[in-house]
Amino acid sequence: MNRETVLLISDIHTNYHVINAQIEHAEESCGQPISQVFVLGDFGFFGDELHDYFRRRQNSFLRPVFCIEGNHEDHGALQKLTAKYADVVSHLQRGAVHSLGPWKGLCMGGARYMDILSTPRGCEITADDIDACLAHSPDEVDLVLSHDCPKGLGVPGALELEYYDAPGEPLLDCLAEHFHPRWWFFGHHHRWFDLQKDGTRYMGLPQSWVGYVLLHDGGEVEIVHHAVPIESPSWWKRMLGLR
Ligand SMILES: [Fe+2]
Repeated sequence: MNRETVLLISDIHTNYHVINAQIEHAEESCGQPISQVFVLGDFGFFGDELHDYFRRRQNSFLRPVFCIEGNHEDHGALQKLTAKYADVVSHLQRGAVHSLGPWKGLCMGGARYMDILSTPRGCEITADDIDACLAHSPDEVDLVLSHDCPKGLGVPGALELEYYDAPGEPLLDCLAEHFHPRWWFFGHHHRWFDLQKDGTRYMGLPQSWVGYVLLHDGGEVEIVHHAVPIESPSWWKRMLGLR
């Protein structure tokens, strides 16, 4: 009997081809199909790039893909774009509970405010988002899927961004206290991170083209380092936080 395996990945930044490349790599190494992919934000909801890749060039994903939003999305058009490309990727609202095989994952897109370029209006995590999550009882949730992470985990700040406070959103700490999840997966900080704290295993994922995590239905978590080539983004897109 096939085991159910979920591929967790983060920070696509419009390099949509990386998702299929990592699916193919995972399936080759597991010897069985991946049941679904979950993107932990910064998928790259930008109208021109989505249109070019999925409509003009007619690409599609090999397996069902779900996601939460990060900060590097067009937040002004997010609702419209997630509806328009729902055939490509299923976007999950903050506070939604999503099934990953036998596991129930609480979804929390968005990020802590950093600056006007990297944190567009609408991406910040609010007290209302936290309330939507706390409406669930702890036994409804096995794990948390977020873009940013709780504060105080010791995730190192990004190089050249040391002038920001320590990484993490303090509002997320209430979720750890309420749910005591078995796992907490996040992206955003562009580095691998692995910490066991108060019964929760916190795992930070790097950019999608660096590697991914497999979550097996028996509860094993596998960290996979696998590089996929990408085009380097133009300097002005990087400057404007578009990639
Ligand atoms: Fe991000």
